[in-house]
Amino acid sequence: MIAQDCVWVAADADQPVAFAATERFEDALHLWELAVRRDAQRRGVGRALLAAVVADAAARGLAAVTLTTFREIAWNGPLYRRLGFVELSEAELNPRLTAVRAREAALGLDVANRCAMRLPL
Ligand SMILES: CC(C)(COP(=O)(O)OP(=O)(O)OC[C@H]1O[C@@H](n2cnc3c(N)ncnc32)[C@H](O)[C@@H]1OP(=O)(O)O)[C@@H](O)C(=O)NCCC(=O)NCCS
Repeated sequence: MIAQDCVWVAADADQPVAFAATERFEDALHLWELAVRRDAQRRGVGRALLAAVVADAAARGLAAVTLTTFREIAWNGPLYRRLGFVELSEAELNPRLTAVRAREAALGLDVANRCAMRLPL
């Protein structure tokens, strides 16, 4: 992902406090991981990183940003919904996102409470 120029790091006085790791696919830029250090949360860093990811996807001419997340955890699904992401039904998943969900299930994640989301650009 770093080799693809697809990782964003937020720093406070040269100390990294957050990152967004994405990967470019034909249909979308996929957000694999967004994490803000606990002592740096609720200061807009997560939103700023997401804005950078969305702007980057648009600049690359991609049609969407996709991700998978927990549907109900306040700072997961509801946050992404407020930012314009739409939950995809199982029928709407493309083979790539179906494979992501299958891998999460294999890793033991509670996929019943997780969803795939898409922000069209
Ligand atoms: C999710 C995460 C990246 C948000 O980053 P952040 O810098 O704290 O978020 P921001 O300050 O930009 O706030 C964005 C919004 O997230 C929501 N949010 C963030 N932390 C929250 C919390 N503890 N409880 C409820 N809502 C929360 C709020 O809606 C917030 O907006 P508001 O402050 O205007 O109410 C960060 O909390 C995190 O790293 N969490 C652990 C890892 C994780 O869940 N990553 C996402 C996986 S898909």
